[in-house]
Amino acid sequence: MGIAITPSILNADLADLAGELARIPSADAVHLDIMDNHFVPNMTFGLPVVESLRQHTELPMDIHLMITEADRWAPAYAEIGCESVTFHVEASQAPIRLARELRSLGAKASMALKPATSIEPYADLLSEIDMILIMTVEPGFGGQRFLDVCLPKIRRTRELAKAAGLEIAIQVDGGVSAETIERAALAGADTFVAGSAVFRADDPDAVVRKLRAMVTPTI
Ligand code: DX5
Ligand code: ZN
Repeated sequence: MGIAITPSILNADLADLAGELARIPSADAVHLDIMDNHFVPNMTFGLPVVESLRQHTELPMDIHLMITEADRWAPAYAEIGCESVTFHVEASQAPIRLARELRSLGAKASMALKPATSIEPYADLLSEIDMILIMTVEPGFGGQRFLDVCLPKIRRTRELAKAAGLEIAIQVDGGVSAETIERAALAGADTFVAGSAVFRADDPDAVVRKLRAMVTPTI
């Protein structure tokens, strides 16, 4: 499983999304945070904005749905060609059906867990998904501190996947920076969302390359 750096534009200039994406050519994908002011106490953008943005970038799109009506909206993002669609397990009424639907539409299916949600009840679902997103902050806002309390869950998820013979990606999201990325990688994460660490820098692409170099095995 390869390393991927997927910057979040939540803390970028939202009035110039196309311009901001042009500043991260080395990214493996762009992470788009969709919030509905119900699942989380914040609201961002939705399908029409993502659809427009597709015309302005070659970067694969990694959708993170922080919305209560995940089952209703997630497939539409796969239908417009987003490469990966993440729904929260706390929001989905039928996660197996939804994951299968996303895969059948050609997207990678991904399931997210909030910091206080355990992986164990969902262990048998790992074969249904391509990626699991482990939140390392309470979802809703960028710029929060990385929660080390989530590291054991990353480790246990990697062990569960290994035991099942599955090569699923483990994505971490929240507070990922040059200070925290190594311990997330050591715990078993291979896909890293970084928002403020990338877009608050003068040279966002240099940060993307630096973060990747920090977690790329040298042998
Ligand atoms: C938070 C979002 C994150 C956020 C990360 O709910 O899911 O993707 O943008 O931002 P940082 O890297 O600043 O924590
Ligand atoms: Zn996110």
